[in-house]
Amino acid sequence: MNYRHAFHAGNHCDVLKHAALALILESLRTKDKPFTVLDTHAGRGLYDLDSPEAARSGEHRGGILRLGDDPAIPASLAPYLEAVRRQNPFGGQRWYPGSPMIVRDALRAGDSAKFCELHPEERAALDRLIGTDRRIRLYEGDGYQAVRAFLPPKERRGLVLIDPPFEEPGEFDRLAGAVADGVRRWASGAFMIWRPVKDEAGYQRCLAALSALGIGKTLVVELRIAPAARDRLTGSGLFIINPPFGLGPALAGMLAYLSDRLAMAPGGGWAVRETERGAVILDQKGGA
Ligand SMILES: C[S@@+](CC[C@H](N)C(=O)[O-])C[C@H]1O[C@@H](n2cnc3c(N)ncnc32)[C@H](O)[C@@H]1O
Repeated sequence: MNYRHAFHAGNHCDVLKHAALALILESLRTKDKPFTVLDTHAGRGLYDLDSPEAARSGEHRGGILRLGDDPAIPASLAPYLEAVRRQNPFGGQRWYPGSPMIVRDALRAGDSAKFCELHPEERAALDRLIGTDRRIRLYEGDGYQAVRAFLPPKERRGLVLIDPPFEEPGEFDRLAGAVADGVRRWASGAFMIWRPVKDEAGYQRCLAALSALGIGKTLVVELRIAPAARDRLTGSGLFIINPPFGLGPALAGMLAYLSDRLAMAPGGGWAVRETERGAVILDQKGGA
C-alpha cells in the first residue's frame, strides 16, 4: 500500500468527487429522517496543501486553487466550496477536506457515518480528527468487506462512497463485486463510485457488470482536463446509483464550467449520462 492521498488532495479528481459528494449530502439533508454514510476508503480526512507532499506534486494547483472568486461560478459548486471554507475559517485554501470531513460536517444530530481505512497512519490521523464524535465510527480493514459487513444499515436513506486508490490490478473487478453485493443488501441507498480514466478494459467490464444488476437509476459522469497521457491522470469519473432528484442536470452545469476552468490542454471534455431502468433520460457532453 504505497498510495498516499496527500500527493493528490485538491486535484481535479477531488474537485469532481467532492463537489458531487457535497451535493448528495445537501440533498440528504433536505428531509428530516436520519441518513447514514459509509465511506469505504476514507483517507486521513484533512490535507495540508502547504505540506511537502502537496508541494511536490502540485496537483492542487490544477484543482481547488483554480476555483477562486469568480462571479460566474455555478451555484451547484457552492456546497463544495463551503465545505472547503469551513476548514479555513481565517481565509485562504491551505486546509483541504477529504471525504470524511465533508461528510462529518453534513451530519445532523441523528445522522451517522462509518469510515473505513486500511493504512494505519492515515487511520490514526483520521481518528484524531474525529475525536469523540459519537455519530461516527472508524474501522480498520478492507473497505469492500465493510460493504458486506455494514449493509444494510437501519436507516433507509444514505450513501455509500467507494473511492479506492486503483494501484492494484483487478481493482475494477473487486469494486464491481462489492457494489453488486451492496446494492442487493441496500436497494434504497445511494452509491457513489469514483474511478480514474485508465484501464479502459477493466472499467468497461465493471460498467457491464453494474449495468447487468438492473438498478433503477444510474448516473455516469466523466471529466477530462486534457487528452489521455501515460505519465499523469488526465480524467476521472463517477458512477452514481440512486442519485438524488436533480443531481444529473446540476452536475451537467457544473462540469461544463469545470472542464473549462480546470482544462490543462485542449482535447479534454465532460459527459453526464443518466439512465432509468435502461432508458436514457439525460445525455449531455461537451469538449474543451
Ligand atoms: C483515494 S484515497 C481516499 C480519499 C478519500 N476518500 C477522500 O475523498 O478524501 C484511498 C484510500 O484508501 C485506502 N485504502 C487502500 N486500500 C484499502 C482497502 N482495501 N480498504 C480500505 N481502505 C483502503 C488508502 O490508504 C487511501 O487512504
